[in-house]
Amino acid sequence: MSTRIAILGAGPSGLAQLRAFDAARRKGIELPEIVCYEKQEDWGGQWNYTWRTGLDANGEPVHSSMYRYLWSNGPKECLEFADYSFEEHFGRPIPSYPPRAVLLDYIKARVEQSDVRQYIRFNHAVRWVEYNEDTEKFTVSVMNYTEDKMETDQFDYVVVATGHFSIPNVPEFEGLEHFTGRVLHAHDFKDACEFEGKNVLMIGASYSAEDIGSQCYKYGAKSVTFCYRTAPMGFDWPDGCEEKPLMTRAEGRTIHFADGSSKEIDAIVMCTGYLHHHPYLHDDLRLVSSNRLYPPNLYKGVLWVDNPKLIFLGMQDQYYTFNMFDAQAWYARDVILGEIQVPDHATRRADADAWLAKEEALADHDAEIDFQAAYIRDLLAYSDYPDFDVEGQGELFKLWLQHKQEDIMGFRNRCYASTNTGTMAPELPDTWLAIKDDSLETFMAITDPNYRPDDAAERQPEPAPHT
Ligand SMILES: Cc1cc2nc3c(=O)[nH]c(=O)nc-3n(C[C@H](O)[C@H](O)[C@H](O)COP(=O)(O)OP(=O)(O)OC[C@H]3O[C@@H](n4cnc5c(N)ncnc54)[C@H](O)[C@@H]3O)c2cc1C
Ligand SMILES: NC(=O)c1ccc[n+]([C@@H]2O[C@H](COP(=O)([O-])OP(=O)(O)OC[C@H]3O[C@@H](n4cnc5c(N)ncnc54)[C@H](OP(=O)(O)O)[C@@H]3O)[C@@H](O)[C@H]2O)c1
Repeated sequence: MSTRIAILGAGPSGLAQLRAFDAARRKGIELPEIVCYEKQEDWGGQWNYTWRTGLDANGEPVHSSMYRYLWSNGPKECLEFADYSFEEHFGRPIPSYPPRAVLLDYIKARVEQSDVRQYIRFNHAVRWVEYNEDTEKFTVSVMNYTEDKMETDQFDYVVVATGHFSIPNVPEFEGLEHFTGRVLHAHDFKDACEFEGKNVLMIGASYSAEDIGSQCYKYGAKSVTFCYRTAPMGFDWPDGCEEKPLMTRAEGRTIHFADGSSKEIDAIVMCTGYLHHHPYLHDDLRLVSSNRLYPPNLYKGVLWVDNPKLIFLGMQDQYYTFNMFDAQAWYARDVILGEIQVPDHATRRADADAWLAKEEALADHDAEIDFQAAYIRDLLAYSDYPDFDVEGQGELFKLWLQHKQEDIMGFRNRCYASTNTGTMAPELPDTWLAIKDDSLETFMAITDPNYRPDDAAERQPEPAPHT
């Protein structure tokens, strides 16, 4: 019987794994038997936006934490696939910060070309994975919602690509049970227009707080307050936005902060991050980690140290995303195909622990970027994933950080050159703040060099999401 592989999840990481196998097939290599289980009804992972909150149509937790009007928060030049450029996909250069729908289009096109949809079982939620030492096989139990039945199957390898920005980390604050405004986690934030004219409070000081706060500002919130636990973000926020130390308690609509100040607030968005939540993995297989650049117990950031037939993709905190998932997927593929010899347990443990120790000593964001670049560079040495300028992209990330410091509401107006094609991205036709429609159609129309603003009147505007 041929080797059997289960891939859990068809987001960018799971799709990278399918693409990696397809690249081998195109080179004439015989593939193992592959089954990819995806609980949603379509692929794209986080990028597959849904209006739903709470539970999906099958009663499973809604996966995507993305919201309307989300644009890439990093330059697209830093996430470009090394085997499929933006220019190749769109047929012309596009600006550096595309909206979600544009990135989803790009992600989907690469796998559509690869004919890998046949491997995916949509509407299948993985419920349980365990390993049998005697048979050396994994048993995977899955809820098949299409046929409304539980299924169990055996596999030689399991690739976990279920993401880790979906299950909210929700802390408690005194008085919230009596707060008369709205309280939600970033995972359930869907549309900034809801907060037009409101005083909103973001709890947290990372990407979600920064971006959801910026969205609320862009779409007309009356004020945006950010409160931090460890350190402020420190951006030069526009009028109407301010940072405060952490809230201590709520009293009616009044929120009290650690510096003794207080403010009237209509809505609180907990931008307090996500849990690594893998309830479908047996205790012996379960990755337990905070959101960090090098989760523990993963050799090469990918193979479970205690059982390298269990593979994790995309479990790191992420500067690099799509191309890092590719580097991991190509490495994992070659382990599965027997092209890469996995060293013994002691070597795996020592290697993983050494990376972990390096990660713990990182001093600042630039060092973190260099660390993740070095990690990807290490992986690339093992496979035939097209070499790309990881370090050059790292320098772009450092510029991106500077540009955010210079203008947090304007950094998305910047342009960068692709390290893969050398092409400089064109400018947005207007500022990010001014472009309110984020659809693929509008973005492609207004960034077309032949675009005439008068054309806009002829296009159907996106219906206003609120009245
Ligand atoms: C709000 C937000 C904004 C982001 N913005 C950016 C950005 O601008 N640029 C960027 O590069 N990255 C961004 N990211 C990071 C994003 O996580 C990655 O781009 C990418 O989506 C990660 O891919 P993944 O496949 O590892 O995980 P995911 O995209 O999370 O996909 C995991 C897949 O696994 C499936 N799944 C989960 N559990 C099960 C189960 N039990 N059974 C079956 N299937 C399951 C899910 O349905 C999903 O399809 C953002 C993340 C968030 C949360
Ligand atoms: N495209 C986009 O624009 C966009 C938008 C949103 C998110 N994202 C992506 O989504 C991912 C997750 O980002 P994230 O910001 O949600 O998570 P995150 O980066 O893990 O940050 C979590 C934040 O929550 C804070 N926090 C945690 N527990 C807290 C508590 N008990 N009290 C107060 N604060 C607490 C943390 O504070 P400490 O610093 O004190 O730990 C940190 O600031 C990232 O990959 C990001 O790139 C992208």
